[in-house]
Amino acid sequence: MSELSILIILGVVIALILIYAIRLRTVPMPSGRKARNEIISYLPNEPCRVVDFGSGWGDLAISIARARPDITVTGVELSPLPYAVSRIRARLAQLENLSLVRADFRKRDQDPGDVVVCFLDPRVMADVGDVLNQRMAPGGIVLSRAFAIPGWQAFGEIPMQSESDILYLYRIGSNLPG
Ligand SMILES: C[S@@+](CC[C@H](N)C(=O)[O-])C[C@H]1O[C@@H](n2cnc3c(N)ncnc32)[C@H](O)[C@@H]1O
Repeated sequence: MSELSILIILGVVIALILIYAIRLRTVPMPSGRKARNEIISYLPNEPCRVVDFGSGWGDLAISIARARPDITVTGVELSPLPYAVSRIRARLAQLENLSLVRADFRKRDQDPGDVVVCFLDPRVMADVGDVLNQRMAPGGIVLSRAFAIPGWQAFGEIPMQSESDILYLYRIGSNLPG
């Protein structure tokens, strides 16, 4: 393969990542190992269904599925390159409790399960709130790393030990003030 071909492929890869990052207003930055472990420690102890809104390269979804075989994990990601890489990683990891779907979580007309985890961007958190207000059943838990959902009342705002972020914990049913 010539140097020019390599440069063209690299250019296409970077352009694809950038186009989707601009369109989705979120950079596909993965959660590091310590942050993932912290998030996992706040998941319910009992078996449940967890959805990662914006699963990126698969780091958090794969870690949850690996750490908690009793939990069914679904990662939802729209950006094609991170999604493709996450599929390869999931296949290599051979985790039966993990599925990854290429979709826009705002348009996915499905029950998001018992727990939604996310690490997104302040500009999209209002969308997350709207989607979950419409689709998540009372009692559902939302763990949002770094960004609060506007207008929602958190039952926990925990400074993360591994990062300078807050982990926001919400419960559907008591998430709206008043
Ligand atoms: C910061 S990354 C977090 C990845 C992963 N959750 C983690 O913590 O390692 C956020 C991801 O959300 C994706 N995303 C943003 N908006 C989305 C949407 N509406 N539907 C699906 N994916 C979305 C982005 O493409 C990006 O890959």
